[in-house]
Amino acid sequence: MRFDIVTIFPGIFESIFSAGIIKKARDKGMIDIKIHDLRDYTTDKHRQVDDRPYGGLEGMVFKPEPVFKAVENIKQSTEKSLVCLLTPQGKLFNSALAEKLASYEQVILICGRYEGVDERVSDYLSDEEISIGDYVLSGGELAAAVVVEAVSRFVPGVVGREESVRHDSFSTGLLDFPQYTRPRDFRGYKVPPVLFSGDHQKIARWRLKKALEKTLAKRPDMLKSRKLSPQEEELLSEIQEERKES
Ligand code: ADE
Repeated sequence: MRFDIVTIFPGIFESIFSAGIIKKARDKGMIDIKIHDLRDYTTDKHRQVDDRPYGGLEGMVFKPEPVFKAVENIKQSTEKSLVCLLTPQGKLFNSALAEKLASYEQVILICGRYEGVDERVSDYLSDEEISIGDYVLSGGELAAAVVVEAVSRFVPGVVGREESVRHDSFSTGLLDFPQYTRPRDFRGYKVPPVLFSGDHQKIARWRLKKALEKTLAKRPDMLKSRKLSPQEEELLSEIQEERKES
């Protein structure tokens, strides 16, 4: 799968994409990331990408021409390429959207600036507008990096065992169960004894219960939109009973 990032700050991405899982995936040819300088698609001698907004207001707005030109140059196919504009006005990015993006052969990410991008880019050029959260960044660059990393994890082979992504929080619809490693006793803080029991069924039940408990405490909204299995229903009632007692 291929990512094309259109930006006025191409240098930002060098180190982010040269480490860890993304570096490995690039080295193995599982993903390809190309960075495009928006200024390369300007025609004036100042390489100007923005202009004052019609109607008069503070700030500058990205002109449509360089953005259209860049995307038209980069786009490989109509069906298998998806053009996304990173903007705080976009659809909130989540695991389901990451998985959807991973089904395309090419994802083009246009990094906007916070002052704005000519509306014709969202109306006639982009297929999807994406926000990574309800806050405003100075530009879409960090958001694009977040999208590349989250989407890459859904590309087969990028994460060690493909299955492990499907077991991630947000894919299972529950927060992760707690994990521990040595020592068993750290400054008096002990690892739950069930984890040394060797009883795999008991451990699996404990983990599921803890995942439910965590989700209920920190992200109850996730439980509302999720269908529970009979075992999860049973564990949830157990948790609610225990809560009443304490
Ligand atoms: N550009 C500025 N803020 C953003 C956000 N929250 N998400 C995506 N792109 C952005």
